[in-house]
Amino acid sequence: MEAASAMFCEHRKKLRNALNSKNPIIITGYTSMQLAGDMAVPFIQQADFFWLTGISEPGWQLLLLEEEYLVRPYISPSELLFDGGMLDHEAAKVSGVHTIITADVAKNLLKDQQKAGITKVYAGGYDAPYLKDSFTINPAAVIAQRTLKRKFQNVEDIRPLLVRLRATKDENEHAYIRKAIAITTKGFNSVRDTLADLVQYEYEVEASLGYTFRMNGAEGYAYEPIVAAGANALTLHYTRNNNPLPKNGLLLIDAAARVGGYCADITRTYAIGTPTAREVAVHAAVEKAHFAIINLIKPGLALSEYQDKSDEIMKEALRSLGLLKKPEDYRKYFPHAISHGLGIDVHESFGGYTEFMPGMVLTVEPGIYIPEEGIGVRIEDDILVTETGNENLSGDLPTGL
Ligand code: GLY
Ligand code: MN
Ligand code: MN
Repeated sequence: MEAASAMFCEHRKKLRNALNSKNPIIITGYTSMQLAGDMAVPFIQQADFFWLTGISEPGWQLLLLEEEYLVRPYISPSELLFDGGMLDHEAAKVSGVHTIITADVAKNLLKDQQKAGITKVYAGGYDAPYLKDSFTINPAAVIAQRTLKRKFQNVEDIRPLLVRLRATKDENEHAYIRKAIAITTKGFNSVRDTLADLVQYEYEVEASLGYTFRMNGAEGYAYEPIVAAGANALTLHYTRNNNPLPKNGLLLIDAAARVGGYCADITRTYAIGTPTAREVAVHAAVEKAHFAIINLIKPGLALSEYQDKSDEIMKEALRSLGLLKKPEDYRKYFPHAISHGLGIDVHESFGGYTEFMPGMVLTVEPGIYIPEEGIGVRIEDDILVTETGNENLSGDLPTGL
């Protein structure tokens, strides 16, 4: 792994080259959000901003003119006392951007651009790419756009380009993902070793994973861990993790570490005691589909063809279990996507590409969920698209029950 700042300098260079324009670029990090009282929500940086700077503190902005600038947030003396904050030289070291300015100086620099006749700037857009109905979005990008629109006629959304650039990852990014996967694998292995006799509650598994992740230097969880015993696995993103484990049955664990800002995303379904023959059969069907789908992945394969072929494989898996009686049964028993991109965000898009490209990292995560029988099984690995095929980055972690 190169020094972090070299990687982020490279990312800014990629953006400049791809854009091929001298017009100003303004990328805004997320602001801190209130959790309750004077407590803030645990902070995760906006992924594009992180990709360009490596800064995982709230309130910072990146301004790219002829020169590069980081715009530091105003932090009150009281906030500085209680919460600390990133110092200029720390921000410069992480990002490789050496000129740190205040918002007022940034405003003047943009005014100069305006005076020089510049009418178009590039900035982040309003909405997040993955919006759920009940989400409230971080206001940082909206506030920045509003300000920019007062000054410039044309504020172009640069996010589609950034998402595309982020979709094919470089070796430094792969190295962070590999590290996150290695630590996650340790966590799963140590849980598995104790599952037979030591663990009684889902939260013990969660605690054990968190312990291993932090003890091995990960920043923490890549996402809220899912530790779902028996029928709890039917809730796809079950995160309460407060139920007892059955004496005999299945335990679905979907959890991963984050390292250097990059995520792993791994699921295994393990046996506790003696599972039923049906549970074993469902697991075997998912496992068989899983490896058949991974085998499809290679550069140049159209995403639409990947989707069609993986649909066929999943339908065959359901058929083998007697679960595909009518067409709508397919989405009933397999109600989520087979894959998503993986990187700084745990769910990333493929950046508008229509085929697999070398350097992409994606999950493969078939699952079969049977509400009538209280059975849910998912297996998830992280796959790198190589020049000639693929590498299963999490393939060292056994998928068996
Ligand atoms: N961990 C969430 C997912 O697998 O997409
Ligand atoms: Mn996933
Ligand atoms: Mn997952």
